[in-house]
Amino acid sequence: MDALEQLVELRVRALGELANIDDVRKLEFWRICYLGKKSQLSVALRSLGELPLDDRKNVGAGTNRLRVELESSLEQKKQALHEAKLLSFIQNDDLDVSLPGYPFPVGRLHPVTQIIYEINDIFTSMGFQVVEGPEVEWDYYNFEALNIPKEHPARDSMATLWIDREKDSVQRQMLLRTHTSPMQIRFMERVKPPLRIVVPGKVYRYEATDATHISMFHQIEGLAVDRGINMADLKGTLYEFARRFFGENRKVRFRCDYFPFVEPGVEMAIDCAVCKGKGCRLCGSSGWIEILGAGMVHPEVLKRVDIDPEIYTGFAFGMGIERIPMLRYGISDIRLFYGSDLRFLRQF
Ligand code: DAH
Repeated sequence: MDALEQLVELRVRALGELANIDDVRKLEFWRICYLGKKSQLSVALRSLGELPLDDRKNVGAGTNRLRVELESSLEQKKQALHEAKLLSFIQNDDLDVSLPGYPFPVGRLHPVTQIIYEINDIFTSMGFQVVEGPEVEWDYYNFEALNIPKEHPARDSMATLWIDREKDSVQRQMLLRTHTSPMQIRFMERVKPPLRIVVPGKVYRYEATDATHISMFHQIEGLAVDRGINMADLKGTLYEFARRFFGENRKVRFRCDYFPFVEPGVEMAIDCAVCKGKGCRLCGSSGWIEILGAGMVHPEVLKRVDIDPEIYTGFAFGMGIERIPMLRYGISDIRLFYGSDLRFLRQF
């Protein structure tokens, strides 16, 4: 029998067997036998080179044609078996196609991220731009340029995680930023007024963890610098924020406070929504809840970035973020946010 006759015989045999196959396992055997690496067809293809040149073309083309035909017959058979199986499922009532499918798990934003987006929206609607800055920071931006020189007592209130303390010059000491305020300096180095920004992000403190403290948390910083900005702008902007975020009827209270990079400095509190200012456990019986620090940008800070404080003035504020959903939803332990317990996180 010459090579072409062999192909014809192989074709009849393969297709004949295929017609009788009625389950997937047998189909796989068939595939290995007729299309596998050691099948007659593959061997024939590999040994084409041994044929005389004239035959090579004919036999090669015929072999390839047969391979294509067998492959497509295999696919058709697969499909047919699959449909037959489905049909028998339905006929035997084993498959109820009207059942709903398995729900696909859908992710969601972390509650802290949701709050950041909400705050960003309020400030962008008032003309602020959202920017972010590095979490690994230089001593210079975190302290020095914000009017907190070495040995300044304000450094004690921000237990710092140092990355590289041994360096000889302050400029080159590296740390994890303890607040988002360093972005004030970074931004004003690049962009001159008028400017309005908010800076959300992670900050780090070297602190023992308990229900209200954690060594990584979030803040959002705000900064507005322009000609003629004054304390009324600060109060108006933050009051508007408090009403939009905490509710129309919120009262706010400003009191003097000290931060080295503002003068004067203030602290803003809102009236406690739980006791309406009467005093309860949540507000420590004072009726007020402190939510942020703020002030008029210190002239020394402006000078540091080559902005003339005789021409420009500005206000800044900084706010811890976790406290806000804690107050809003009555969450008593800050650690819940970072425990990765989906039973907690799925509630938001
Ligand atoms: N950076 C301060 C802190 O972490 C918060 C702060 C207070 C930011 C007053 C400000 C500000 O911009 O004006 O405690």
